Amino acid sequence: MLKLKAILAFVVTAVFLCAASAIAAPIVIKFSHVVAEDTPKGIMANKFRDLVAERLAGKVVVEVYPNSQLFGDTNEMEALLLGDVHLIAPALAKFQKYTPLLQIYDLPFLFKDMAAVDKFQQGPHGQAMIHSMKDKGIIGLGYLHNGFKVLSASDPIRLPSDAKNKKFRIMTSDVLAAQFEAVGAMPIKKPFSEVFTLLQTKAIDGAENPWSNLYSQKFYEVQSYITESNHGVLDYLVVSSSEFWEGLPADIRTVLEGCLKESIALGNKVSAQKDLEDKQKIIDSKRSQLITLTPEERQAWVEAMKPVWKKFEEAVGKENLAAAIAANN
Ligand code: SIN
Repeated sequence: MLKLKAILAFVVTAVFLCAASAIAAPIVIKFSHVVAEDTPKGIMANKFRDLVAERLAGKVVVEVYPNSQLFGDTNEMEALLLGDVHLIAPALAKFQKYTPLLQIYDLPFLFKDMAAVDKFQQGPHGQAMIHSMKDKGIIGLGYLHNGFKVLSASDPIRLPSDAKNKKFRIMTSDVLAAQFEAVGAMPIKKPFSEVFTLLQTKAIDGAENPWSNLYSQKFYEVQSYITESNHGVLDYLVVSSSEFWEGLPADIRTVLEGCLKESIALGNKVSAQKDLEDKQKIIDSKRSQLITLTPEERQAWVEAMKPVWKKFEEAVGKENLAAAIAANN
């Protein structure tokens, strides 16, 4: 009898200890992204991890996986919805499967500068778009800037006709496909992690990227020319799955939202600096020649690509398009 009681006491204690340790285990948030750590997104993700470590020590741990280490373009959204990763920040072009609205950001020559992008994103139309994927189980938590895209290629590209029949890698966006088709080029949808090899092996002729990606992925080492076209913006949306985010304890979620806000603000600040610094580093490397367009040459690109707006105005919403145009004033 005594032995039975001792066994029972042992089992009860063990169960209690297991339960207690399970309760005390911190929540793990996996943040996966496809770029290098020394980029606006990489810096934002690491800052978020560090702020959470300070403010929610013992309660939440953020693990950051850069450079498509954990998930890449082809599977990160599915992984998010399956709960295998909890935060991602894809380029806005990569949400096409989940909402047509965010394609607005890919329209060529829509925003004149980052101030206009910011004004639109923070205004009612831009904010409403953040919530446009709720029915798909995706919750938008905030825009993050990278910057304007430039064209890189193995041959000099000055005029739209120079791009004719050339293969350009694009993100999975029909707007970006239409943009290159408008100048007679061949858009090739490929994941970011494959771009360097595609360029190096000359399987493709060129790509479009902001300066920080060109520099951190060393694309400039395998592209002889960079045309400073600034033809479109590459920004991000930090997202989680509604199931995960809304399932967090409310007090913890509030602190996490504060950490996100601060880390996004840092990422945005860094994006403006990196745009200038990484461009200069590429120029200094002399591996790639910078092509600066004359106003007339730039205008030729605007005229060739702008018809794409009409093609997608229904998809992105006419009122959204009008608000985006107005953000330039
Ligand atoms: C990124 O900046 O997250 C990658 C963009 C791309 O796929 O070109």
